[in-house]
Amino acid sequence: MSVFIDACRRKEAEYTPVWFMRQAGRYLPSYRSLKGSRNVLEIAKDPGLASEAVVGAVRELGVDAGIIFADIMLPLEGMGVKFRIEEDVGPVVSGPIRTPDDVSQLKDFDSRSDAVEVYEGIDETVRKLDGTPLIGFSGAPFTLAGYVVEGAPSRELERTKMMMYDDPDSWKALMGKLTSMVESYLDRQIKHGVDAVQLFDSWVGCLSPADYDRYVLPYTRKIIESIGGRVPTIHFCANSGPLIERFQSTKADVLSVDWRVAVDDVWRRCADRVGVQGNLDPVVAAVGGETMRRQTGDILQQAQIHRGHVFSLGHGVLKVTSPSNLKQLVNIVHEKTRSRK
Ligand code: CP3
Repeated sequence: MSVFIDACRRKEAEYTPVWFMRQAGRYLPSYRSLKGSRNVLEIAKDPGLASEAVVGAVRELGVDAGIIFADIMLPLEGMGVKFRIEEDVGPVVSGPIRTPDDVSQLKDFDSRSDAVEVYEGIDETVRKLDGTPLIGFSGAPFTLAGYVVEGAPSRELERTKMMMYDDPDSWKALMGKLTSMVESYLDRQIKHGVDAVQLFDSWVGCLSPADYDRYVLPYTRKIIESIGGRVPTIHFCANSGPLIERFQSTKADVLSVDWRVAVDDVWRRCADRVGVQGNLDPVVAAVGGETMRRQTGDILQQAQIHRGHVFSLGHGVLKVTSPSNLKQLVNIVHEKTRSRK
């Protein structure tokens, strides 16, 4: 077993493992040259290129895990959603899903024929990683609903919330279809050999705790249940401070949080019954130097008395980040935590 999986399972780990969301991204010269003029979906659907992107980042940074190269939008193609991913903007959907009719026209995802390139990419990535754990992932139903209902990136998700409050039947139908998709997509990823899965509910922090309980939690819980402990589960949300106890009740093994909440606060509020992933501000990783060293030391100190820390940034690596800062960060985390054992 690996230090990363040990930490996810809250076992005593030899040192604190580290990896970064978007570690295979445009801040990395080797990714930019692999990418050329292709878009992110073309890379994700080419198992050779996708596996190269993952392995290139893992080797260059010396991190303890890779994440499959895909995008949260990709499996939605199988449901008949039409979209493109615009650079520096994000997913843009043509024909957003807003009416009961739109929802009923969404196709059921079939993991035997949909997103097959992702599973082939996993096979090739597992081979090339040669033992380094590979994290599979999916967008969570609420965050995916956000993209398909809004049609374009939006922080407030007003239209999505309007459907949720105003048309509960469509909301239930949409969340139900997305939940089935996520379950079968992750099931297939696990069968192809991913060692852990991360559920990105990136934008669900825009809901009140009571609305989270009512409109989202049952679906997320069902997904985690469907995994049945076969691999560790990581639940990510930005702005998750007010919802920590709710995320714990999804039964995810690890809560991935951003810098707006202190990691020791997460453990305290969950009575030490979860792993915690995070949570350096990506801006601090971009700035580097003494600020990065000091803030990293502070996170590690908070984590010292708890089991189950996976060091990471609170959200994805920023495009302006120098790869040498991340390499230094990996070394700091490894050295500081190894020497105290
Ligand atoms: O190493 C990795 O993390 C790469 C794999 C990966 C991508 N997207 C590829 C990608 C992962 C894990 C994602 C998840 C993803 N995609 C999320 C959840 C994580 C989060 O940020 O909260 C979300 C919300 C998306 C949707 C999306 N795709 C956005 C908001 C963007 C940013 C637009 C931009 O250009 O900055 C994308 C594009 C995207 N997906 C890129 C990558 C490497 C950057 C563009 C590119 O390389 O062409």
